[in-house]
Amino acid sequence: MRRHWYEREHPRQPAGAPGGHGGEFRRRVTQPWLQALAGFNAGRMTYEQVLSYVDREDFVSEPMRGGASGGARLREYADGTRLVAKTLQWNDHALNEIEVSLIGRAIGAPVPTVVPDSIEDDQVLMEYIVGDTAVRRLSGFSGSQYWEERAKLTTQYARTDPGILLGLLDLITGQGDRNAGNWIITPFGMPVGIDHTAAFDPDSFDPELLEPPYHDSGFAREIFTEQVVGGRRYTDNPMHPEDIDLAIKRIDQLLDDGLIRQSTHALTTGVLMQARRHAKGTTRRIR
Ligand SMILES: Nc1ncnc2c1ncn2[C@@H]1O[C@H](COP(=O)(O)OP(=O)(O)OP(=O)(O)O)[C@@H](O)[C@H]1O
Ligand SMILES: [Mg+2]
Repeated sequence: MRRHWYEREHPRQPAGAPGGHGGEFRRRVTQPWLQALAGFNAGRMTYEQVLSYVDREDFVSEPMRGGASGGARLREYADGTRLVAKTLQWNDHALNEIEVSLIGRAIGAPVPTVVPDSIEDDQVLMEYIVGDTAVRRLSGFSGSQYWEERAKLTTQYARTDPGILLGLLDLITGQGDRNAGNWIITPFGMPVGIDHTAAFDPDSFDPELLEPPYHDSGFAREIFTEQVVGGRRYTDNPMHPEDIDLAIKRIDQLLDDGLIRQSTHALTTGVLMQARRHAKGTTRRIR
């Protein structure tokens, strides 16, 4: 079995070694589709590009407002690049952020590129997404009107091509927290998911993976699942079956490169195989 890049048996990097944990991660980022700018990520940063900032200290930083735990800081580097450094409370939350980003890239879903910064401090470094959180768009509403408008906004963006892929990502990762503070609408009108700490909860997944995992995502609900008495079930979805096959192949490659945990591979590909049985689309979306 391939060893995960983060496993403790790795020879530890000497203090101050270039890259730190990012160095080991960098060595393993070999898949061309991870290095390329493709699909909905066009114009945004590659893993190599974000990794090149891991060791740099030429930045100023300030806390970002709006999160629950307050761990996200905006960094502005001397060359003008803006990135978000997020300190997590638990180490597996850092791994969740990194893995959801990798799986997102594998399926073409709109999420930031996330790399390990200093895993000892449970910190990750990611692309800064320009735009408004959905919460911000809803700032004029309160009470029941807020919830109605929130549902409308989610439905509107869930039915776009990037929204469908974000819904697929939320489904296969068991995204537990796609609240309106956890997705951003870019100036080009694209929904981008952020904040993936609450994914991969083993209790969210049916042991046989026959039922869709529990998720708290209007994107996944709009396109892939429906509530039935006592749980959820898959609905027919607009994915092309060959896109699902490509996604599975890429997630296999992430496991081979030691970039994701065995459990992450098993859960995401298992759910993809179920979603494939309901994939009725004729349009390819994953490049
Ligand atoms: N990559 C990013 N690009 C732009 N803004 C971001 C990004 N990451 C976080 N933010 C901003 O910072 C806020 C807080 O970040 P985030 O939602 O990731 O953490 P949190 O809710 O505090 O933490 P958690 O839910 O993990 O406990 C977001 O609502 C958003 O406004
Ligand atoms: Mg959040």
